[in-house]
Amino acid sequence: MFATRTTPHHVTCHPPPCMGLLCVACSAAGEDTSDHRISMGGELKAVGLPRTNSTAEFAPLGDDKEVEYFFASDASAIVEHTDRVIYLLDDDVATVGAEGILTIHRLKRSVDDTHNREITTLKMEIQEIMKGSYTSFMQKEIFEQPESVVNTMRGRINFDSEVVVLGGIKDYLGEIRRCRRLLLIACGTSYHSAIATRQLLEELTELPVMIDLASDFIDRSTPIFRDDVCFFISQSGETADTLMALRYCKSRNALIVGVTNTVGSSICRESHCGVHINAGPEIGVASTKAYTSQVISLVMFALMMAEDRISSQPRRSEIIQGLKNLPDQIKEVLALDDEIKDISKHVYEKKSMLVLGRGYNYATCMEGALKIKEITYMHSEGILAGELKHGPLALVDKGMPIIMLCMRDNTYTKTMNAVQQVTAREGQPIIICNKGDKESAKFGSRVLEIPKTVDCLQGLLAVIPLQLLSYHVALLRGCNVDCPRNLAKSVTVE
Ligand code: AGP
Repeated sequence: MFATRTTPHHVTCHPPPCMGLLCVACSAAGEDTSDHRISMGGELKAVGLPRTNSTAEFAPLGDDKEVEYFFASDASAIVEHTDRVIYLLDDDVATVGAEGILTIHRLKRSVDDTHNREITTLKMEIQEIMKGSYTSFMQKEIFEQPESVVNTMRGRINFDSEVVVLGGIKDYLGEIRRCRRLLLIACGTSYHSAIATRQLLEELTELPVMIDLASDFIDRSTPIFRDDVCFFISQSGETADTLMALRYCKSRNALIVGVTNTVGSSICRESHCGVHINAGPEIGVASTKAYTSQVISLVMFALMMAEDRISSQPRRSEIIQGLKNLPDQIKEVLALDDEIKDISKHVYEKKSMLVLGRGYNYATCMEGALKIKEITYMHSEGILAGELKHGPLALVDKGMPIIMLCMRDNTYTKTMNAVQQVTAREGQPIIICNKGDKESAKFGSRVLEIPKTVDCLQGLLAVIPLQLLSYHVALLRGCNVDCPRNLAKSVTVE
């Protein structure tokens, strides 16, 4: 990101051309911004480039007024300076020249190129991107989850009539119900939200559901058909692999559904329809509140798909009531913070940590392990408990920290078998179980009890102790929790 300040009559800085997925914010210095209008010129004019491919031009109007332009990859980086942004498209090159004129050029011209670049007014509030009393954005975002999940459901679920409406998808429901299969494609945490909801989607849609890591999907040249419905899940909406997979499926005429947290992002713009998860800006590189909101968005989609099926009504009803109770239950889990901090003191010096579970909580294990490796730099693996005997059991001894998710769902008995296999090898698991579950608790060296909810929502509560544990371990290891080494918030390169 770079910023420049120019006046209409005096250029103090001439930045290099800016390319790619940048967000340009324009604001005029001074108090009354209405005096500092930014105009879009109709005339094409090249500024600072040898080509004459300029597509739009913005110049400050008025006398003796200053104008500032900020260039950033994400609107949240500049919202403290301005709420007026222009989203650049791929192959746009933006330059600021003399007289404070911003010119947007096209590197490659195609017939459907538009000369319009709109100035968008951000709805984001500055408080949303401030840490407040928290020591890091990650901590703030973990503790925001009782509110962010409400924002995801707001205006979409009527808890009395049990009607669920996702406005961005409702017109496509008929087409989706007639499709051949659903594909959920994403990277990292967003991919885990697909794993977390696959079982419920299969149950409530009665459609085959395929999930794929975007990078693997594009490596395989997977057959895609016009009656496929492809979901692309991405917090940023800019992840290169996910975007490439989207374009691949779109070129094969599949219906494209975007599930993103960033209005105006590339995935939003290029989807036929979609869901904004409305989690609010997520600044920490480690995704936390976006994960819970992604899962809830996909759960709401599953509920919508089953609204007409009589036999599904009891199931829909228990899930909807479960969603209603979620914010309070999340608060209960967050209250375990001190206990989790204490556990972190016993594990932070270890080299590795395993996270085991199965069923709906396989995704929770994968997501917990990703959080641990991402911000603590400790090796961590999420392991399906059913796979334990097929290799990972060899890692188990009394020194290996193992977290086991033992939830009272239809996988409980099998999970307890895995717990016994671990303890028989002198493993000392940290058990996360439902409140009052003495049977599970007796096997744990430490126990975290979380409230019970519907099976398909339990992971939304179980993931929070893992988010908190990774956060505390990272602090004890002296890591920067918001900006882990080698990682970026938006991965815009393949
Ligand atoms: C999550 O903690 C990671 N930072 C990462 O796995 C992330 O989820 C992934 O890069 C995908 O990003 P997206 O949701 O913005 O597409």
